[in-house]
Amino acid sequence: MKQGKRVGIVGAGNVGATVAYSLAMLGSCHEIILRDNKIDVARGKALDMSQAASAVRSHTVVRVAESMEDLVNCDVVVVTAGSPRLPGMSRDDLLMINANITKEVIKGIAKYSPDAIIIMVSNPLDAMTYVALKESGFDRSRVIGMAGILDSSRMAAFIQEKLGYGGGQIRASVMGGHGDDMVPLPRYSTVAGVPLTDLLSQDEIDQIVDRTRHGGAEIVAHLKTGSAYYAPAKSTSIMVEAILKDTKQIHPCAVYLEGEYGYKDVVSGVPVMLGANGAEKIIEVTLNEAEKKMFQNSCNSVQSLIDTLNTNKFFEGE
Ligand code: 2OP
Repeated sequence: MKQGKRVGIVGAGNVGATVAYSLAMLGSCHEIILRDNKIDVARGKALDMSQAASAVRSHTVVRVAESMEDLVNCDVVVVTAGSPRLPGMSRDDLLMINANITKEVIKGIAKYSPDAIIIMVSNPLDAMTYVALKESGFDRSRVIGMAGILDSSRMAAFIQEKLGYGGGQIRASVMGGHGDDMVPLPRYSTVAGVPLTDLLSQDEIDQIVDRTRHGGAEIVAHLKTGSAYYAPAKSTSIMVEAILKDTKQIHPCAVYLEGEYGYKDVVSGVPVMLGANGAEKIIEVTLNEAEKKMFQNSCNSVQSLIDTLNTNKFFEGE
């Protein structure tokens, strides 16, 4: 029998497990169910996290799904499953491999947790969110990609580092896809309400924008064997919490556009209001000509990945 809120997490690697840990420590939900092909690793992590939850007197239980069938009646399902880019593999190869993994996973979610809200974390993020939307048949409000909170948090951390003050008071804004042509918006970034443009020179702001765009790669270059997971996982758990608690807070997330910002049938990162029904409202921010151009470039990049999926007949025969 189901008690309280249930969160499913597909992929118990670094990102998935850290999302679970973060939610378990907060006591955000009654149950977290981890699903991973490496079932014993998932079992070990689930036990370890349940014990950590007991240590902090959290009521959350973490358990394992032996198969997708056990991922039943979840309120939210986070999808982190995917292959990393291996030597010799092109971006398009990775795209097709992860699109096929996503297709499989999403079919299971749609079958066993048909009322869930899906949060996509797998890369390439915007294209995988598009795949998840098409394969689930869910309303677009229930298929949301995580990236904007991560990219904005990175920008905020870089602003703090550059300024040397303002920690915890910085609101940075990043829109667009989760790629090299994401759209950091210094004009909409503030420190305790003071516009960034009043605090830093254009040259300093340009450096922050560039570093934000390559924030993921900077961490990969240090780790060498993998990519970031603390900030990606925390950003995901913020989304899960906003949905479970129906906070109606605004966060930048990747959603399917149906005319907003002048784009249709593509996924991009925009501010959305998160609540019990998922992405309940899409906010349209006024962009200047330069920002519009950057947003266009970013949408075009995502569109070219969707075009590759179509060229490979990915969506045919359904
Ligand atoms: C990141 O930005 C790899 O998308 C991941 O860290």
